[in-house]
Amino acid sequence: MPDALPYVLILYYSRHGATRALAEQIAAGVESRSGIAARLRTVPPVSPTCEAVDPEIPAEGAVYASLDDLRHCTALALGSPTRFGNMAAPLKHFIDTTSELWVGGALIDKPATAFTSTSSLHGGQESTLISMLLPLLHHGMVYAGLPYSETELYTTTAGGTPYGASHLAGQRSDKPLDEAERHLAFAQGRRLARLALALEGAR
Ligand SMILES: Cc1cc2nc3c(=O)[nH]c(=O)nc-3n(C[C@H](O)[C@H](O)[C@H](O)COP(=O)(O)O)c2cc1C
Repeated sequence: MPDALPYVLILYYSRHGATRALAEQIAAGVESRSGIAARLRTVPPVSPTCEAVDPEIPAEGAVYASLDDLRHCTALALGSPTRFGNMAAPLKHFIDTTSELWVGGALIDKPATAFTSTSSLHGGQESTLISMLLPLLHHGMVYAGLPYSETELYTTTAGGTPYGASHLAGQRSDKPLDEAERHLAFAQGRRLARLALALEGAR
């Protein structure tokens, strides 16, 4: 059952909290606009043997996403830590369950974006963002990165790319979002909310 208020689904996986920090900042950007809400959802970890069964509600953070969360969203922000230059398996695992939405065209013409966190500066942020873009294109979504009118893109010494928000968490995963990263994630959420409302009117 769709919410009365349209919502941006912020769907992410985060093992150590860095990607989650970006997700929360994007949510703040979404909620800075009126008439639209942010819905934060995560996905459970996966194991190589697929024998692990997680409790239905995680011990902390956002609750697990359902297909209906995705089906009824007005826009989507997809977030994952970088793993070998790619999105993490738990997020890919969830995306691989979305065939019925693809068959029904549930996400066609909805705006989408992506965000990521890495331990090293050149550890593959852009390639991970592009890896998340691929399934979004297959679903017929309209990808929105970050425009250079966000001037922090010129000056950042950590995360923040035209492909989407990102964070340099450091080798110990202990760096908080810096000012530019916070600004860019917020701007990404705010822009996605604006596009969501505009495209919803056009659909
Ligand atoms: C299996 C694995 C692969 C990783 N691959 C990369 C990588 O390619 N580049 C990188 O900079 N960091 C890599 N990392 C580090 C994470 O991307 C980084 O710690 C990230 O900030 C974790 O986000 P989280 O706190 O949301 O879990 C990897 C971590 C793991 C566990």
